[in-house]
Amino acid sequence: MSAEKIKKAAVIGSGAMGHGIAELLAMSGIEVTMVDINDEFLAKAMEKIKWSLDKFVEKKRIRREDADSALLRIHTTTSYEQAAKDIDLAIEAVPENMDLKRKVFSTLDSFAPTHAILASNTSTLSITEMGQATKRPDKVAGMHFFNPPHSMALVEVIKGENTNQETITTLAELSKKLGKTPIIVRKDVRGFIVNRILGAVFNEAFWAYQRKEATMEGIDSSVKYTGGFPMGWFELGDFGGLDIAYEVGNILYQAYGERFKPCAEVIEPLVKEKKFGQKTGVGFYDWTKGRPRISFNLLDEYDVERSWAVAVNEAAWIIHDDAANPADIDMGMKLGTYWPSGPCEYADRTGLDVVLNKLKELYAKYNMEMYKPCPILEDYVTKGYLGKKTGRGFY
Ligand SMILES: NC(=O)c1ccc[n+]([C@@H]2O[C@H](COP(=O)([O-])OP(=O)(O)OC[C@H]3O[C@@H](n4cnc5c(N)ncnc54)[C@H](O)[C@@H]3O)[C@@H](O)[C@H]2O)c1
Repeated sequence: MSAEKIKKAAVIGSGAMGHGIAELLAMSGIEVTMVDINDEFLAKAMEKIKWSLDKFVEKKRIRREDADSALLRIHTTTSYEQAAKDIDLAIEAVPENMDLKRKVFSTLDSFAPTHAILASNTSTLSITEMGQATKRPDKVAGMHFFNPPHSMALVEVIKGENTNQETITTLAELSKKLGKTPIIVRKDVRGFIVNRILGAVFNEAFWAYQRKEATMEGIDSSVKYTGGFPMGWFELGDFGGLDIAYEVGNILYQAYGERFKPCAEVIEPLVKEKKFGQKTGVGFYDWTKGRPRISFNLLDEYDVERSWAVAVNEAAWIIHDDAANPADIDMGMKLGTYWPSGPCEYADRTGLDVVLNKLKELYAKYNMEMYKPCPILEDYVTKGYLGKKTGRGFY
């Protein structure tokens, strides 16, 4: 099925992500039915969509008549049967719980026409397992939007073990139609691309802080003002939610073992006290008076090359796992988190040998798996693929 043939969709779960995805689909001309567990949630979601469309009009990004017709294309129901009976696509955005997701997929499968694609917006869970809850695992895939879906340009399209290429092509095409840039995650690996690389840099920073090598503000100041990243790692953790960072961290640890050994002492106490960051007012920082002000004076406290080294190493592992190519990894980090450069581009510019030496130095010093160089990196350097200076590196 080509993306152009997707005329009717269902979005399951109308929360933070679901309502934004429904809005996007409707803006691109697709009829959408949102499903939730009660009418009150659905009414709230419709209010949010209306507010957001009005903002688009105010900012002159769309015309009033286009906003009005998009709104008319969005319907709501608590009945899966009604929502799914004649769809071409469903996107699931219910809470991150495998039992619940499997139930949703099996229900959708029983009501949706056989040609329909069933996609999940999961951040961490197995697409393959969701596919196995249906009789159409070839048409089940991940379609991971970033928050908020209407402004974030990236979509990770994830292939489950049984997903066919046509499904991936259709979802990639659809992402483009929605004005997004898709990157393809060829294997159903935990954390996909963006959260996996973020998990690596978070851990490096948390451990450095735990070892009292730098202060939290010092790390964030260095990451922002020396490294040119839009936020420091602690600030970003707070911004995205420490409950989510903690959960993703644990999932990465389960999936990849010691390389992702979490620094529980730093994050766990905050999570236990429900200090999740921006959304609760307090996390690593106090957000009650707005965004934390990170001092410019501490920009040398932390060596940002360490963040880059573990990011490049994780990118190498993703390539090693054959889960994505360097261009998609770089695009993912630039569009999904506004990094100033992708890790593979960074390594090619800096020299793969330089990054490898940094990792070796850190590994010798701390004896932690996160610094142990990925075999691909060693292999490239041995072959003389050092990056720009030798004409070949990751690219
Ligand atoms: N919030 C983010 O930043 C973000 C980013 C990317 C992906 N995700 C993923 O998107 C999914 C949804 O996250 P969210 O933040 O929108 O959650 P949320 O809690 O804001 O929304 C979930 C919605 O699903 C509804 N729901 C619960 N059970 C349901 C059922 N059986 N049928 C239909 N609806 C049901 C809830 O009532 C709620 O409205 C999760 O898998 C999450 O990992 C979240």
